[in-house]
Amino acid sequence: MKFERAVVIGAGAMGSGIAQVLSQAGIEVVLKDVKEEFVERGLKNIKRMYDSRVKKEVLTQAEADYHFGQIRGTTSYDELGQPDIVIEAALETIDVKLEIFKTLDKICPPSTILATNTSALSISEIASITKRPDKVVGMHFFNPAQTMKLVEVIPGVKTSDDTVKHAMKLCSEVIKKIPVRVKECPGFLVNRLLFPYMNEALYVLQEGASPQEVDEMVVKFGMPMGPFTLFDMTGIDICAHVNSFLYKEYGPRFEPSPLLDKLVAHGCLGQKTGSGFYSHEEGNIPQKGEAKKVNPKLEQIIKEANSVKSFQRSSKKIDAHRIILPMFNEALYALQEEVVTASDIDVGMQWGCGMKRGILSLAEEKGLEWCLSEIEGHHKELGERFRPSWYLKKLVRAGLRDFSQLLPEPVAVR
Ligand SMILES: NC(=O)c1ccc[n+]([C@@H]2O[C@H](COP(=O)([O-])OP(=O)(O)OC[C@H]3O[C@@H](n4cnc5c(N)ncnc54)[C@H](O)[C@@H]3O)[C@@H](O)[C@H]2O)c1
Repeated sequence: MKFERAVVIGAGAMGSGIAQVLSQAGIEVVLKDVKEEFVERGLKNIKRMYDSRVKKEVLTQAEADYHFGQIRGTTSYDELGQPDIVIEAALETIDVKLEIFKTLDKICPPSTILATNTSALSISEIASITKRPDKVVGMHFFNPAQTMKLVEVIPGVKTSDDTVKHAMKLCSEVIKKIPVRVKECPGFLVNRLLFPYMNEALYVLQEGASPQEVDEMVVKFGMPMGPFTLFDMTGIDICAHVNSFLYKEYGPRFEPSPLLDKLVAHGCLGQKTGSGFYSHEEGNIPQKGEAKKVNPKLEQIIKEANSVKSFQRSSKKIDAHRIILPMFNEALYALQEEVVTASDIDVGMQWGCGMKRGILSLAEEKGLEWCLSEIEGHHKELGERFRPSWYLKKLVRAGLRDFSQLLPEPVAVR
């Protein structure tokens, strides 16, 4: 299958990034939004991305002009042409997506692949509104789409293998991204593994650690930034929403600390409101080498969170392993459910979250037996957040030391 023409639905942060990436690969793109001003804003953002590539000497001005000229904005479904693929990046609301896919199914040629960039909605449900569920697939790009390499490719229940192969090929060969195939499950791969780690960091704060201490600890361990820096960057309201969504889907392993909801109630949503775990107000932004300033309200907010519900405290000194192990344990649950292959777990966490080394490779270094015994110790003391996956126990009993021993045949087309 050739990818010569694409449509991107939604000209917001993700849609404009995806349109830029497609156009730079030589694909003609129609960028659709609901209002002219949104289309214009999207095109302006793309122009800015191209300008920055020229500045960095990645592209010449002529190349940038040519690629930018491949993108046409519209507000009308009548102007989508005959796309090989549509990538939808509109609002994260199921009704909006169902309406869009119903319309796309009616107007696009039968061969067109319909992809959604949803972060959490069901691919199978979105596919079910169309008469071509075999051609509907999740393509979850990361923000910013123009620089982040990872794309999670998520088949729904009825997605054909061909559609998945084409989506993987588009990513790896045409737009030069790194795709991983992920079985449809809440949080897909990266968010599913990231949130138990982020959540555990919250409990550690409730036990008395400071955000700087935890952030520094995990950065030393190999994370690109600490969880509290990431909470503030992503938006605490968004993280609270994802946390409770995953809890609803997976149960006690994801029991959220009440801390995020308390911060939201105080209007501390992170960088966008000037305060979250840290203070981001002008005058409080640290100069190079200076420590970040903690939100002065945080101590009081933690006290409030601690009074919501009693919780177990660890008898051990807080360390990075306590925070990272829930990510590893969840990776083993994902393997247990055959959501993803072992090698793709490490690829996903490296390219989707910037970890210097994959979580499985870090665990191999410590030894799986050691990891299991730590998880079991925390499970005894701290409860269900640390219930070990039976798959991990099985691997330990089998004496497995190296996840490469589990690798299936390499996937023909990544
Ligand atoms: N922002 C992220 O970090 C991120 C990462 C991965 C995936 N996503 C997903 O990507 C999608 C878009 O997210 P975003 O951050 O770009 O949102 P955004 O709010 O920046 O942009 C959404 C755009 O979609 C437009 N839109 C709304 N309804 C539409 C319709 N019916 N037809 C066409 N356009 C419509 C809006 O006008 C807006 O311009 C969501 O599903 C989100 O969950 C977001």
